Amino acid sequence: MRDINTFISKSLDQRIKNKSLRTLKTENSLIDFCSNDYLGFSRSEELKILFETELKKYPEYRMGSGGSRLLAGNHSFTENLEQGIALFHDAESALIYNSGFDANIGLLACLPQRGDTIISDEFIHASIIDGIRLSHASRYVFRHNDHSSLEQKLKQAKGRIFIVVESVYSMDGDEAPLKQIAKLAKQYSAALIVDEAHAVGIFGDSGKGLVYELGLCGEVFARIITFGKALGSHGAAILGSKQLRSYLINFSRAFIYTTAAPFLSHLAVKSAYLYLNSRDHQSEIHQRIKFFKQNAKTGINLLNSRSAIQIIVIPGNEKAREIARLIQVEGFDLRAILSPSVAEGSERLRICLHNHNSIEEIKSFCELLNKTL
Ligand SMILES: Cc1ncc(COP(=O)(O)O)c(C=O)c1O
Repeated sequence: MRDINTFISKSLDQRIKNKSLRTLKTENSLIDFCSNDYLGFSRSEELKILFETELKKYPEYRMGSGGSRLLAGNHSFTENLEQGIALFHDAESALIYNSGFDANIGLLACLPQRGDTIISDEFIHASIIDGIRLSHASRYVFRHNDHSSLEQKLKQAKGRIFIVVESVYSMDGDEAPLKQIAKLAKQYSAALIVDEAHAVGIFGDSGKGLVYELGLCGEVFARIITFGKALGSHGAAILGSKQLRSYLINFSRAFIYTTAAPFLSHLAVKSAYLYLNSRDHQSEIHQRIKFFKQNAKTGINLLNSRSAIQIIVIPGNEKAREIARLIQVEGFDLRAILSPSVAEGSERLRICLHNHNSIEEIKSFCELLNKTL
C-alpha cells in the first residue's frame, strides 16, 4: 500500500514540476472559445424546446435503459434512431456506443486480429491508440497526413490491413488527405477507418461529415461519429455495413458489456439531428471561422485549418499556459494544450469557434490575441 501511495505522489509531483498537472474546473462566465460545442447545440434554447416537444410524445418513458443492449437495454426507439443516423450519413447501418472513446476501443479491440496490421496517423486520438493496444495486431504509425509515409508502412504490412485516421484532427484542426488515403487503401486492399468526431456538423451537406463531403462514403470501411461535439449531446455511433454491425454486436466488448444509455440520452441525440436538419448551421460556423482567420494577425503560428478548431503553436508548457491565462483574465475562455497531451515543443492554444460566438466577440478576441502574442 505504501509503495502505491509513493508511486502516486511521485507521479503527481512530476506533473507539478513539468507544469502539466491537470485539474478539473467547473463552468465559468467567460466567453467560450474552448468547448467542442461548435454549433452551440448544447446551450441552444431552440433545441431544448424541440427536445421537450419530442419528450411529450413519450409520456411512459423510463429513466434507465434497463441493461446492456443484448439483455434488457435494447428498445425500438434506439434501433429507429440508428436507422435514421445511418440514412442521414449515407451508411448501410449505424451502431450506437455510449461514447466516442467506447466506439473506438470497441471497434479496434475486436476487429484486427493477431497477424493483422493497423496503420495510424501519428496524431491519432488517445481512444484509437488505446483500442489498437487492446487488439493483438501489429501497429505502424505514419507521419502526420503524409501519404508517402503511409505507403511505406503499407508496403511492410502483413495480414489484413487497417488504416485509421481522423477526418479533422482534434488537436490540430487540419484535415486528413482522405482522397489520397482512400486511393492507397484501395490499392493495398486495406480497410479505411475514419474518426469524424470533429467533422460532423461542420463539413458535408447539413453537417454529414467530411467523408460525405468528399463523396467517399463507399470507400470508407467504418466511420466513427460522435454526438458530444457539434451535436451538443453525448454518445457515438459506428457507421458501416450491416455485416460489420452484426460483428460488433457479437464481438465488441465495449458494446456488449455495458449498460445502454437511457432513453433521454437517445432522445437528445434524435432532437439534435432534427435540429441539425432544420436550418443551415454550417454557413453560420464557416462565416465565423473565416472571420477569425481574417482577423488573426499574420505572422503568428496559426496552423492551416478550415475547421472550427484553430491552433496557435506556442512551445513550452509554461509559456502556453501563461498566454492562455492572460487571455482568460480578459474574459475569454481559451485553453492551452500542454505536453504530454501534445508532443513537447508543440504546446499550443486550441481555439474553438462556435455559432454562439458573435462576430463582435470574435473581433475583440482577435484584438486581444494579436496584442498578447
Ligand atoms: C477524434 C476523437 N475521437 C473520439 C473522441 C472521444 O469521443 P467522446 O468524447 O464521445 O468519448 C474524441 C474526444 O475528444 C476525439 O477528439
